[in-house]
Amino acid sequence: FMINIISPVISYFIGSIPFGFIIARVAKGIDIREAGSGNPGATNVWRVMGKKYGILVFILDMMKGFLPVLIFDYVTSGQSRSLYAILCGTGVILGHTFPVFLGFKGGKAAATGCGVFLWLAPLPLFISVAAWLLTTFISRYVSLGSMVSTVVLVISIILLNNEPFGSGLSLTLFSIFISLFLIFRHKSNIKRIINGTENKIGRKTKN
Ligand code: G3P
Repeated sequence: FMINIISPVISYFIGSIPFGFIIARVAKGIDIREAGSGNPGATNVWRVMGKKYGILVFILDMMKGFLPVLIFDYVTSGQSRSLYAILCGTGVILGHTFPVFLGFKGGKAAATGCGVFLWLAPLPLFISVAAWLLTTFISRYVSLGSMVSTVVLVISIILLNNEPFGSGLSLTLFSIFISLFLIFRHKSNIKRIINGTENKIGRKTKN
């Protein structure tokens, strides 16, 4: 029973592991918080250090969302997609955005949220990744892709989950909460998109 109570806390600590920061520091001696957009996420590592490192950070940040939720789901409830999985998903996302190891200043939860929903709602997640690809490649704004994809995720969860206000209520509410949270974390990007100063992928401008 103890594990049920502490698993969201352990998830928070796992989410706090700042892979973007660690990889930039170890591989190139760069403080990612002072380069590019200053965000310690996969997009900014890609921007500052290139594709190879960006993809590596994306995979690590995604796995740190996916694995704790999957493992604790089975360990705590013995069944899949339980309320514990949602609590651990909350823990890991809070860890990534407010990491204890990085002065509580973390990322925007796109890659980590992707990992959490890869377990909780795989089909809606795949649809949302398709929306991310489409929006990012058309607009060339990664941030806009992330925000649009999170809205598409909520819509897909509601539509594919035949009882959004029945058995799937907790998942529906969780996805709405995470979506609003992710958009809120992108407020500096929203301002830059409006000003016309947001970074476009494939260009070497900095902000
Ligand atoms: O998920 C992060 C991405 O959407 C934006 O990152 O570095 O452009 O602020 P960045």
